[in-house]
Amino acid sequence: MPLFVSRLSSLAISYNRRNMQNLAVITGASAGIGAEFARQLAAQGYDLLLTARRADRLEALAHEIGNRWGTSAEIHPADLADHDATLALAHKIESLPNLTLLVNNAGFGIEVPIAEAPIEGQLAMIHVHTIAPYLLCRAALQTMLPRKQGGIINVSSVATWTHGVGAANYCATKAYLTSFSQSLSDEVGKQGVTVQALCPGYTETEFHDTPTMDAFDRAEVPAKMWDSAEFVVKTSLEKLNSGQIIVIPGRKNQALAAAAQNPLLSKLITAADRVLRRR
Ligand SMILES: NC(=O)c1ccc[n+]([C@@H]2O[C@H](COP(=O)([O-])OP(=O)(O)OC[C@H]3O[C@@H](n4cnc5c(N)ncnc54)[C@H](OP(=O)(O)O)[C@@H]3O)[C@@H](O)[C@H]2O)c1
Repeated sequence: MPLFVSRLSSLAISYNRRNMQNLAVITGASAGIGAEFARQLAAQGYDLLLTARRADRLEALAHEIGNRWGTSAEIHPADLADHDATLALAHKIESLPNLTLLVNNAGFGIEVPIAEAPIEGQLAMIHVHTIAPYLLCRAALQTMLPRKQGGIINVSSVATWTHGVGAANYCATKAYLTSFSQSLSDEVGKQGVTVQALCPGYTETEFHDTPTMDAFDRAEVPAKMWDSAEFVVKTSLEKLNSGQIIVIPGRKNQALAAAAQNPLLSKLITAADRVLRRR
């Protein structure tokens, strides 16, 4: 290739790189922690692909983001309990050349003991909390690994280490997501892709207001145990390039996670929870 053509093409490549905005995909962006990730990442200049089931909420957030920060926000309504819809989103993610960050945040609670809980809801939870994040991580790696850059935040929970009545699959799926993130970090960390398992405690969102959480009474949890979504997301983004894989926002939650890993203290925590919550 003549020298001037080669110079022109390398100039074009660097021009394109400069103009390729960082892009973040956020699941569960229609409310709570996911919507807060969208706002804080838009404030950092990210373009966004927002997904959840409620298209009207996503549209309103996309407009807000365009008006406030001038970054672009595309919406992709999808039910991540639906396998085909999840595969379609994974396919879309594979086709995003400037994907910089994937936030696997979609999730929900069900507070009903296993023998009584309808199977459908439990299977939906297993899909949303484990199969969907796995498929979306795999899709994101297809463009991140060749570029040797990118980040994945899997929103797990302190429920990774706790357990209790009515939360068998919630705790088990969050333990999966935390463990999955650790091994994934072992696999891709040295190839330029950062993985974080974000493990919040009680966070003020719509999580505890959904019909499947009817049995939950916020008043049973001391006020000091609650964090804002803003604090949780700020902590996550500050720690993203720190080398810390498991991020537990707030000292009280760090203490809870540490205590729950001690067999005796874990029994005490479960007993106290049963007394406090009269179960
Ligand atoms: N709040 C807490 O105390 C707390 C503590 C620890 C961990 N977490 C975790 O934080 C994450 C975010 O929860 P949040 O507290 O922000 O709750 P939230 O306000 O209820 O938001 C949950 C998000 O997940 C989406 N979602 C739920 N089911 C979905 C499905 N089948 N398909 C696609 N999207 C779905 C919801 O959107 P649509 O309804 O529009 O689909 C919504 O955007 C969850 O993974 C949760 O387990 C929360």
